[in-house]
Amino acid sequence: MYKYIIKGGKPLEGEVEISGAKNAAVAIIPAALLVDGVCRIENIPQISDVTMLLNILKRMGASIRTVDRHTMDIDCSGVTSTDADFDMMRRIRASYYLIGALLGRFGKATVAMPGGCNFGGVRPIDQHVKGFAAMGATVEVRNGLVCADTPDGHLHGCEIYLDVVSVGATINLMLAAVFAQGTTVIENVAKEPHIVDVANFLNSMGADIRGAGTNVIKVRGVQKLRGGFYSIIPDQIEAGTYMAAVAGTGGDLLIKNVIPKHMNCISGKLEEMGVVIEEGEDCLLVRRHGPLRRTNVKTQPYPGFPTDMQPQLSTILCLAQGTSIVTEGVWDNRYKYVDELLKMGAAVRVDGRVAIIEGVQGLTGAPIKAYDLRAGAAMVIAGLCASGTTEIEGIEYIERGYEDIVEKLQNVGADIQCVDIPEAQEDEDIQRIG
Ligand code: EPZ
Repeated sequence: MYKYIIKGGKPLEGEVEISGAKNAAVAIIPAALLVDGVCRIENIPQISDVTMLLNILKRMGASIRTVDRHTMDIDCSGVTSTDADFDMMRRIRASYYLIGALLGRFGKATVAMPGGCNFGGVRPIDQHVKGFAAMGATVEVRNGLVCADTPDGHLHGCEIYLDVVSVGATINLMLAAVFAQGTTVIENVAKEPHIVDVANFLNSMGADIRGAGTNVIKVRGVQKLRGGFYSIIPDQIEAGTYMAAVAGTGGDLLIKNVIPKHMNCISGKLEEMGVVIEEGEDCLLVRRHGPLRRTNVKTQPYPGFPTDMQPQLSTILCLAQGTSIVTEGVWDNRYKYVDELLKMGAAVRVDGRVAIIEGVQGLTGAPIKAYDLRAGAAMVIAGLCASGTTEIEGIEYIERGYEDIVEKLQNVGADIQCVDIPEAQEDEDIQRIG
């Protein structure tokens, strides 16, 4: 077990390179199950959620060869099992993509109920199930397993209207529909950049998917996907996290390997707060030298302000002049981290999906915890901005989605270390919890 120790108060200066998008990678890797042949995938982020998914595929019989740190050859032609009931699956949310991929390829799937970041409430998959059922599958949840089957071994094209805009359901139904007989039309879909990326990946291997990035996706079933080469897009949320970090600490940061258009929803808010952003072809220069100003924000599906940036933005709003109102429009409960900010001197009141944030002069370092991936990233930002020392536990959440976060921050002047938690202290923590 490890923790981060941050000595805050240093402006960030220099360059940081953004990795491949986590939420694209965790869909594209299971999507390789649909491909007959080798998929060479580039720009795969080195994060624990990806490692876990690659291990799951290996256990199912896939052959995976590392070409370099961010490039893998994945060949799933040898996979024969439709069963993915592994303990590892219960730890990641994206394991739900195995349902769509296995159902699409074999007409059946038995997959452990997905786990992942827990925001305090249930994370339902009813829209995924509704879509699979409309395509002719029977889907039951038994003993923590999602069991899906088709009477004739095939899914059938149909029209599906999603009652909520869901990233996971949109991608899962696209995966399932690739080999369905006829055309599947999915309406009221999510439009996040990673949805377009998954559709581009599948199309580059021979699928026929149109409309990704709009409200309606049409998938015409094809017979076969063949191997090929694909490079994953840069991670919008990792880039946004570094933008929020430099907005919080002050300084000048060149953020490289981004698609600036994907960042507009985040850049706009930061500019309202007094951050100066210059756009290059595949980079952003982010500067903050004056005071941070208050703003209001509501999280929404893309192209709205992303829920996965809400904790990071709320954290820097704690240091802005005036009162800001943050409304969480996607998840029921995504403010668990606020208690940690209060320990550092923040002034935040949460009422349901709304957080009212009174800007304070400064935060002070404290021992705090990461409760989920983005909340963890927000705690790192809080530590970088605070005076004194901040110790963050629960960093395994952060490492699920941020490649080399410690090294990347150290390279731009942050004083952050990853240190071992001595066993005696771990035992003490376990006893306290027990
Ligand atoms: C994806 O989760 C992301 N995860 C999340 O990022 C992100 O917060 C979320 O999309 C929203 O952008 C991955 O891509 C692996 P949803 P997902 O289905 O697909 C409700 C991160 O930090 N809903 O778009 O699980 C749901 O309760 C993670 O990187 C239903 O009601 O999210 C929520 O309120 C955390 N029924 C809303 O829709 C369903 O069947 C959006 O959820 C599905 C979802």
